Amino acid sequence: MTRALLIDTDPGIDDAVAIALALASPEVNVIGITTVGGNSGLAATTRNALRLLEFFGRSDIPVASGYDEPYGRAKMETGYEPVHGNDGLAGVDLPEPTTKAVSTDAPAFLADKIRNSPYPVTLIAIGPLTNIAHLVDKHPDVIPMIERFVIMGGAARTGNVTPVAEFNIWHDPEAAKRVFASGINTVMVGLDVTHSVKTHEHLWGWLKDGSKFGNVFDHILTSYTDFYSMFYGERMTHQHDALAMAEAIWPNMMELEPAFIDVECQGDLTTGMTVTDTRLRNDVKPNGYVAWSIDGDEFHTRLMSALAALASTVG
Ligand code: RIB
Ligand code: CA
Repeated sequence: MTRALLIDTDPGIDDAVAIALALASPEVNVIGITTVGGNSGLAATTRNALRLLEFFGRSDIPVASGYDEPYGRAKMETGYEPVHGNDGLAGVDLPEPTTKAVSTDAPAFLADKIRNSPYPVTLIAIGPLTNIAHLVDKHPDVIPMIERFVIMGGAARTGNVTPVAEFNIWHDPEAAKRVFASGINTVMVGLDVTHSVKTHEHLWGWLKDGSKFGNVFDHILTSYTDFYSMFYGERMTHQHDALAMAEAIWPNMMELEPAFIDVECQGDLTTGMTVTDTRLRNDVKPNGYVAWSIDGDEFHTRLMSALAALASTVG
């Protein structure tokens, strides 16, 4: 059965790849996208969601904008524009959207879609968890209606923004803490798995075909690769969000382990750390799963096949 998919996102280059993967996968039906501040400000991430959907020919999918300010602290000027560019998509040549976000805010939009979906709902968050924290605060009745909740975020071991914190959690740790404590069973697709998969630049060679799709994705992925090359010395990227999307589309594609996950919000050195307890003693009840591994070759095969299929409809 096709599952209904709701995507909360901060596009974002790897978010754009993840959204494309979802749209090209018949296993899921994307019934809505909500936007959040993270990789760029809310205005930019909302503009990007709208113009990406228009580019994909999917302006039928409603977009609701959410929160720019973090749930639990003042917004920090991350200075992370170098990763995704000031506009969130590396200055890509994409027309302004002709559509607008719906008037409903993200939490109310998500709650309405969850309450009224005739199909089981998977919710995936591939940006900071700000909107999801407001969702569980304002609409707790929908928590048991969510069949599966997958996030790109966190790390049981090594971080990216700091030695122990991953960006989506670090950007709004109080939101993440609230979500993990909310009763939603969370599949945490963190850096433990996303850093284990390197998408080397040659895998994107097929984009250099002069097509509209190829030109757009070649531009944003070359920029993303330039960033990673600067930091890691290799012409590769980590497709964090597309990996989480793969787990949402194909459940248990990853090796998952039950865990009790909480978030450090105070530590000078550890704020944003997802403290992941897999001891599972009688006094520790899991509130989710931590993802440890995936078959990287299989992921790349499915990703490139899906994107090529979508590219054929875009031209
Ligand atoms: O740490 C990786 C995450 O931060 C991804 O979701 C990327 O888009 C950025 O938001
Ligand atoms: Ca993201």
